[in-house]
Amino acid sequence: MRHEPRINPSILAADFANVQRELARIATADSVHVDVMDNHFVPNLTFGPQMVRRIQETSPVPLDVHLMIEQPDRWAPGYADLGAASVTFHLEACQDPGALASELRARGAKAGVAIKPGTGPEPVLAILDRIDQVLVMTVEPGFGGQAFRADTMPKLRRIAEAVRARAPEVRLQVDGGITEETILHAARAGADTFVAGSAVFGTPDPAAAIRTLRERARSVTFP
Ligand code: DX5
Ligand code: ZN
Repeated sequence: MRHEPRINPSILAADFANVQRELARIATADSVHVDVMDNHFVPNLTFGPQMVRRIQETSPVPLDVHLMIEQPDRWAPGYADLGAASVTFHLEACQDPGALASELRARGAKAGVAIKPGTGPEPVLAILDRIDQVLVMTVEPGFGGQAFRADTMPKLRRIAEAVRARAPEVRLQVDGGITEETILHAARAGADTFVAGSAVFGTPDPAAAIRTLRERARSVTFP
């Protein structure tokens, strides 16, 4: 591994009627991954700043906010102001990714840039020195419980190699279809931060699932 692996359970797979209880079940995670969807950038709707503020006030672990929204240039800084540890926006929706990343950092959050399966790595590589995290989506964003897309692994590896050469502090995150099996593929291709929804909240013992995923990721060496 390039970095100690991080496991960030996705709240999308949690019971929304019992968010506080669900958050308590993942107290051993590195962060909670918070999926904000606006029904425009993706065909699904979750919640906005008001809900994220309560999650921030309630969560035992830091917030890793994933914005699947249009106009992140306008809305993302507000999530940094709420105290989110990291705010990740989609490159496809952003007017000026470098400027937005700098704005997020200025407001005290780590800045992340996400790309969908069909988006090439070049625009991310161009701003590596201005960001803290790259999120390579391993499913089409919008829904939990989809199958891992192995065809995204060559792109992940390419970004991982660039990060290692030019920006070793940058974290490389994968999101979508991560299981005890697929985490090995993603770790081998260079990911060090793993979002898992169903694989954590869909089990009776989320703490055990987090532990297993972490051990599996640790067992892999990035060649
Ligand atoms: C999908 C979201 C993911 C999702 C992952 O658009 O960004 O964070 O919750 O869920 P699983 O792990 O079930 O694929
Ligand atoms: Zn996500």
